[in-house]
Amino acid sequence: MSCKMNVSFPRRRMARRDFLRVSAAAASLPWLVPASVFGADAPSERIHVGVIGNGNQATLDIPTFLQQPDVQVLAVCDVNTGSHGYKSPKQFLGRKPAQELVNAYYAKKTGAAGYHGCDAYVDFREVLGRKDIDAVVIITPDHWHGLMTILAAEAGKDIYCEKPMSLSVRQGRAMVEAVRKHQRILQTGSQYRSSPANRHGCELVRNGRIGKLKRIRTWVAENNAVGPGPGWKPMPVPEGFDYDFWLGPAPMAPYHLDRCLYRFRFIFDYSGGQTTNFGCHANDIAQWGSGYDDTVPVEYEDLGAEFPPPGSLFNTPIKVAFRARYANGVELICQTVPHKDGCLFEGTEGSVHFDYNKLTTDPPALKDSTIGPNELHLPVSNPNRMENSRRNYIIDHVRNFLNSVKSRKDPVEPVEVGHHTAALCHLGNIAMRLKRKIRFDPQKEQILGDEEADAMLDRTLRAPWHI
Ligand SMILES: NC(=O)c1ccc[n+]([C@@H]2O[C@H](COP(=O)([O-])OP(=O)(O)OC[C@H]3O[C@@H](n4cnc5c(N)ncnc54)[C@H](O)[C@@H]3O)[C@@H](O)[C@H]2O)c1
Repeated sequence: MSCKMNVSFPRRRMARRDFLRVSAAAASLPWLVPASVFGADAPSERIHVGVIGNGNQATLDIPTFLQQPDVQVLAVCDVNTGSHGYKSPKQFLGRKPAQELVNAYYAKKTGAAGYHGCDAYVDFREVLGRKDIDAVVIITPDHWHGLMTILAAEAGKDIYCEKPMSLSVRQGRAMVEAVRKHQRILQTGSQYRSSPANRHGCELVRNGRIGKLKRIRTWVAENNAVGPGPGWKPMPVPEGFDYDFWLGPAPMAPYHLDRCLYRFRFIFDYSGGQTTNFGCHANDIAQWGSGYDDTVPVEYEDLGAEFPPPGSLFNTPIKVAFRARYANGVELICQTVPHKDGCLFEGTEGSVHFDYNKLTTDPPALKDSTIGPNELHLPVSNPNRMENSRRNYIIDHVRNFLNSVKSRKDPVEPVEVGHHTAALCHLGNIAMRLKRKIRFDPQKEQILGDEEADAMLDRTLRAPWHI
């Protein structure tokens, strides 16, 4: 539909000679706009982006990408045309509203009222097939993250993949291998790595300000939706929603509104419940502050997790409760506790707590302690950002990804880090589901002496999808 429009915005890898030819042609057409409206960057430095999955989180991620001066969003993609009834009834989401949002943004920015340069797709493979797209943003349910990342890496795209990075430990490993094999940049969307307060808290722990680290406590939110109980009835698939493509590699299952669109996170076929949803924020901080990004705990045990009654549509824990132990004896306790949030590091001489909004320490003055030039400093997403706000974390996390796309250096949450954080959460889920202690070998990525548990490190993909 928009192939005529696309020539007005030269592609990143376009030769300068071609760029000049296109610009000259563009100048003769009133609805084409000068390249300079996209920022001071040379056209060859502009990053062309496709956004796959245009639901709830996309309402934050798409505007964030749009606002970056060196980005142009060329494509959106969703198996849903457009509908209400996601997380909040006010939201109208899907590829059509996403396309309208992008086109309206560029129409305003460029003054080209009839701008329609953003294409909308049902099939993400068409987005990956476009040579003019440099990077994709994957904001689909978790059961798609592995396949889409691997195919994107094979297609030569850089990837911003929302958290939790994987659906299973084995898929996460396959993602690591694909990204490294094809030398792509991947940023996992655990944006709390881009919070200045959080970074400072982790630096305090890493530099021994709380003495010897003994225990880490992480808290995940309570479920914000209750699914239908035993005996629930399937519903007709809404018009404009490609349910079979939504399911993709997941097992065939009857449609219900609460299966798809936001609430998928409470069903194991597509996600891992709050263990992976909020766990990939809180446990990600745990990994960073303790310095265990290149590994995961070696033991996991259930602490009385609670699940919906058998036969319910939702089957992930209502109450998360597990204990993990790192090889050096430090323990991590991850739980659902009302009004508790974030990650608490407990040491022999104090503690550090980050609850997403602020950093608190014991003793209180500890948080004002500065990290000296010869101490360990953690990567900074945006050196100019000092104030702490949830919105800024996403902006800086996206900016950090874009800078990496240009520099070809790893971002703050590269693929291995995203994999380990997700793996920790998956292993916690396995221990809670089996209600027994499991032991894990982080080098071989195997569960020791328990075949049933080890089989849960992987998922069977519905044909014809395969990794
Ligand atoms: N970083 C954060 O803080 C944060 C917050 C919320 C969600 N997320 C993550 O974002 C992802 C999406 O969550 P959400 O809340 O936006 O869910 P959602 O259901 O609202 O959105 C997902 C969208 O993906 C679409 N989709 C499904 N299969 C697709 C396919 N094959 N091709 C194209 N589109 C497809 C759905 O139709 C839907 O519109 C999840 O992995 C979630 O964990 C991250």
